[in-house]
This record gives sequence, structure tokens and C-alpha cells, in this order.
Amino acid sequence: MTKNQTSTLNKIRSLINQLRQHNHAYYVLDNPTISDNEYDQLRRELVTLEDAYPDLVQPDSPTSQVGDKPLSAFTQVTHDIPMLSLGNVFDFDELGEFMRRVNDRLGSEQQNPAYEMELKLDGLAVSIKYEYGSFEQAVTRGDGQTGEDITQNVKTIRNLPLYLEQAKDIDLLEVRGEVLMPKAGFAKLNQTAEENGEKTFANPRNAAAGSLRQLDPAIAAARPLAFYGYSVNQGLPERILTQSEALNWLAELGFTISPFKVVKNSEEAQAYYESVINERADLPFEIDGTVIKVDDLALQEQLGSLSREPRWATAYKFPAETVMTTLNTIEWQVGRTGQLTPVGKLEPVQVGGVTVSNVTLHNFGEIQRLDVRAGDTVSVHRAGDVIPKVTRVWTEMRPDGTKPVTLPSHCPVCDSPVVLPEGEALARCSGGLFCPAQQQEALIHFVSRRAMDIDGLGERLLIRFFELGLVKTVADIYRLHEHREELVTFDKLGEKSVQNMLDAIEASKDTTLPRFIYALGIRGVGETTARNLAQQFGDLPALMQAGIETLADTPDVGDITAELIFDFFRAEHNLEVIEQLQASGVHWQPIEQVEAGELALDGQTWVITGTLSTMGRDDAKARLQAMGAKVSSSVSGKTDALLAGEKAGSKLAKAEKLGVKGVSEGEFWGMVKES
Ligand code: IVH
Repeated sequence: MTKNQTSTLNKIRSLINQLRQHNHAYYVLDNPTISDNEYDQLRRELVTLEDAYPDLVQPDSPTSQVGDKPLSAFTQVTHDIPMLSLGNVFDFDELGEFMRRVNDRLGSEQQNPAYEMELKLDGLAVSIKYEYGSFEQAVTRGDGQTGEDITQNVKTIRNLPLYLEQAKDIDLLEVRGEVLMPKAGFAKLNQTAEENGEKTFANPRNAAAGSLRQLDPAIAAARPLAFYGYSVNQGLPERILTQSEALNWLAELGFTISPFKVVKNSEEAQAYYESVINERADLPFEIDGTVIKVDDLALQEQLGSLSREPRWATAYKFPAETVMTTLNTIEWQVGRTGQLTPVGKLEPVQVGGVTVSNVTLHNFGEIQRLDVRAGDTVSVHRAGDVIPKVTRVWTEMRPDGTKPVTLPSHCPVCDSPVVLPEGEALARCSGGLFCPAQQQEALIHFVSRRAMDIDGLGERLLIRFFELGLVKTVADIYRLHEHREELVTFDKLGEKSVQNMLDAIEASKDTTLPRFIYALGIRGVGETTARNLAQQFGDLPALMQAGIETLADTPDVGDITAELIFDFFRAEHNLEVIEQLQASGVHWQPIEQVEAGELALDGQTWVITGTLSTMGRDDAKARLQAMGAKVSSSVSGKTDALLAGEKAGSKLAKAEKLGVKGVSEGEFWGMVKES
């Protein structure tokens, strides 16, 4: 054997071992260790190697069998007709190829047959037999030839008809379909399991599988299962000639069927597929694609089957949501407050229908938890609009010579030392406002709605100004009017939008002390802390001169934040910027300090609901807080009052139930005046 062959054989053996373990976890333990798609990828890799090296095909390769042996506790039953699986297509081109293959096998008068399309339900295939209309036996698919007798469990499924009046003259009727657990029932089941400290199921499919494998039918009976019929394999009346007629007949007999559609060509098939993608989230159960079947049953017969799948049908699957790829390198990005975020640069892959080439690894702690290294094979998951994430690192496939990731010692942007405080996962650049990455983010934060609220100056424009050197620090924003001419021609902004922008900048000069403190972007100082600091110190000079201990006396300010605030006001650069801002005319009314306990709503918790007509929500919140109240988002037993605007819905109802007092906008203004 050549060196090359030995290494290929090792790879094949390793893939077989991995697949066997996953098969066992999936089929026997109902506890899959990887996603279906990851499994398919491993399997495809094995098939490719076996095709290329037929001499190295192993006798125990899982490509020669489907699934693992069934559990022995149920009686095994051989299917009268094998239960096949389906091939896959993933896009319009592959769909076209499937239809071409069908045409190639049909006569010249039979070209371009009609197709019937259904949902590909994500549950378990079950064969059910009725004798003279009476439910007799239900069997799992098993390995396709032999399955397990789960009659007692299936009998408990609520939507399954146990007697078919219209089939009472048919000696043997075999209906096949999918047993699944609807999303709502699944959510409830898991919630109850969680409340009782029991193991939860990873997804509805596993929950359905786990339920059917119960030896005690009482447990299965308590599970919210449903049966959807999708084919009649024995006993179909001769007058029924197509799959779509067969489905309608199943519905007439009393079975639940999923919506289907007959299409004439690949364009119509594509349109159905796309409409299903759009409705997917609203369906009561999970699906992983559509199934397309030649509608004419005689043509199905004529087309026949390969060993494992029919030639007359295929699954048109949704884009994979979990995909394996290589993580090439790890780069570090620097955020507004200097935190270093590791970003994985991937070999680009299609996940959930889009190409993904970057994935956030969150922080150094996450890297250590995942034990991910440059060069690793990783699984990337992306569903819906959720940001992609690494869900698994395939350490078993790790190439030689990789090294554990280390934290950079210096900032990749400004080269200042990086610090990782003990016990923290977040590493930071120590460059502060000297670091361009932090300057940019500081600018964006400064103009944001809850800070200086300059909505005429958007993020993109601000970054452009920064890149051009027009704006370096937040103080430069108030000097932009000096560049009016330049701005008008810049990116064809035009006279009017430049004027709007400058007006917005001018208007922002009239601000409040809490907003200003918040806008400075001091680490650890969010809106609430900024408000507390303003209240505590009354004006800026007092705050700037405060010592660490005095700062730490402020509600909501811990020792670390106190130190950060103290340091901020000791940095020369920051003092200059503040001075420049005030010299440009940024100003606020001094705060009237109130002793604790003097405030009208001290110690009370308020909730705001409905549409307010005389003020914005933020405004109402600020006023309530100024009167000493805490503002919470949900009504509970601890709520003292509810400020209710128009169309106050469920919160008002809940408040009434709990006896929490409701306050109208008018009453609210009365209170504001009084206080
Ligand atoms: S037809 C030979 N129709 O998909 C025809 N199968 O990959 C095979 N499935 O084991 C079955 N929804 O569990 C068919 N509308 C549908 C289906 C469907 C889900 C599952 C079924 C089968 C697997 C094949």
C-alpha cells in the first residue's frame, strides 16, 4: 500500500467510526450529537472517498446500511414494501436536473409530467395498516426493510382516525406518513420538563422520536403528537390515479394531510418552494424543505426506484442552517470602550441561504471554552436573522501544527498594551481616546439619540468625516460649520442637508447634564449612572473634582466604576475636549439637588404603557426618575403605579387585576407640576 493509500484508509476508518457513533446516538439513544446536515457532510465525504478509491471500501461502511439496529424491546416487523428515503436537491438548477432525469426515463409522449409538491415534515416516518377499516398496526421505518412495532403508542395519537368508515371494505390499507410534535406542544413539554428539573429535548423531532420509543404507551399518550398522512402504499382504490387524488382521499377518510400543490414545471415548483420558505415560521410544525413527486401514479411505477430512493420524487430542501467549514485565522477588533473582540475569518460558506465569512467569537473566554484554533474545522450555525455562531469545533479533525490562540499583547489598532483584568473575559486596549478605534466609536456614541441626540449627523457620514480627518474628537463636531463649503460639495450632500445637519448640531448644544455625562462615553457609565452622578454632584466641576470614595457613594456606582470615572477626568486629553465643548457653547441647566427621601415618588416602581400623546416615552421615563421613581418594563406585584396612554393593552389589564393604580397623562402632569 502506498503512503497515500494508507492515509486515505485512515481517513475512511475515522469517518466510519464517527458516523457509527452518531448513528447510535441518533437512532438508538434519540440524542443526536450533531445536526443532520453535519452528518450528511461527513457521510458525503466518505462517499466521495469510496467512489475515488473503490479498493478501500470497508465491509462495515455505513453507506451500505441505513441507520442503526432498532432497539430490541419492540417487536421487529418486516415491511411488505420497503420504506424508501428521498434524494435531495438544494437549488433551482438541481431541481431542473432532477426533472431532466425524470424526462430521460419517460417516453416521448410522457415528457414534462405534472408534479405534486408537499411539505417535508420534520418528524418520523411511520407505516400504518388498517384491516377492513380498523387500525391494526403501526411500524417505524427502521432501516427501511424492518422497523419496530409501535402500534400501542401510535394508537394514542389524537388526530389519527382508528376506524375508517369509507375503507371498511378494503381488506388491507397501508397509509404512510409522518409522526411529529407541533411546535407549541413541544415548547410546553420542554417548559414542564425544565420546571421539574428534567432533561429537555433538543428539538421537536427528537421529542417525537423519544415519545414513540416509550415502552409505556401511557407516556406516549401524554405527549402532544400528530400524524400527517402522505401516501397510500397498499389498498388504494383503482379509480385514484394520482398522488394529489390519493391525498384528497386520505383527507376524506379522516386523516390530517399537509397542504400540497400540483405544479406544471420547474418555475411553478420554485414558486411553491419560495412561498413555503416565507410561511415556514408561521407553520404549527417544523419542516426542513418541500417534497416534489411525479403526480401520476402509473408514471411513478414506470420510473421505479433505486436501492434507497425513488426516481419519481426528491426532497427540495431548505438551505442548511449548520455547516462545517475551516476557520482560517482569528482577528481582533477593538470596540468603543476598547474591548478586544476576536473574529473568526472563515473559508466562506453558505449557511441559512447567505454566504458567511466572519463569525464573532465574543471574547477570549469563549475561545478558551470552545478550544478553537486557526486551521480548525468548525460548525457554523445561522437560522433566520440570527447572527452566525460557532457551535462546535471538530478537534478530532484538527490538522497537525496548530497552536492555541493567545491574547495579543498590544492593540492591533494603536499598539497600546492590552489588559485583561483578573477574573474577566474581556480584554481591553489601554489606549483610551488615543486609540482611533475607540475615537470612532466614541463619536458614534456621542451623537446617538440618548446622548447628544444629533440625528442630522448619521453614523456613516460621521465615520467618513473621521476618515477624512475633519472630525477627530467629539469637540470637532461643533467646528464642522467652519467647513461648510467643503461639506456642501462633499459626497454631493447639497446645501439643504448640510444646513439641516448644522442646525441639528447647533440645537444639540442645549442639553442636560445627565445626557452630557452619558455622552462622554466613560466606561461603566450608562444612562442611569449618568443621571445618578448628575443628581449627586449637581454640576460638572464638582463631578470632575470628586475623589474615588465620594464617587463610590453615588447610587449605582461601584468601586471599579468610581475608579474609571476618576481616571477619565484625570486624562489631559479628556479635559481638553470637555473644555472645547463648553467653549463651543454646549450647556445645560444646573440640577436641583434633592435629598434622598424628599422626592415625591421615592422608592416607588412605575410602569409606562400605551401610546402617550403629550410626551415621548423617554421623556416620561426621565420625569418619573427625576421624581425618584424606578421605571420597570413589566407589571408585577411590586408595581406601585401604571402610567397609561392610549391603547394600553395587556399591561393595563394585568395592573387592574393586581389592583395597581392606573395614572392618566393628565394626572401625571398634575403630579409633575406639584413636585
Ligand atoms: S415521501 C419514497 N413525503 O422524508 C417516498 N416523505 O427522506 C418517501 N418526509 O422517511 C417518503 N415529509 O420521513 C414523503 N411529504 C413527505 C414527507 C416525507 C417528510 C420524510 C419521511 C421520509 C424522509 C425521506
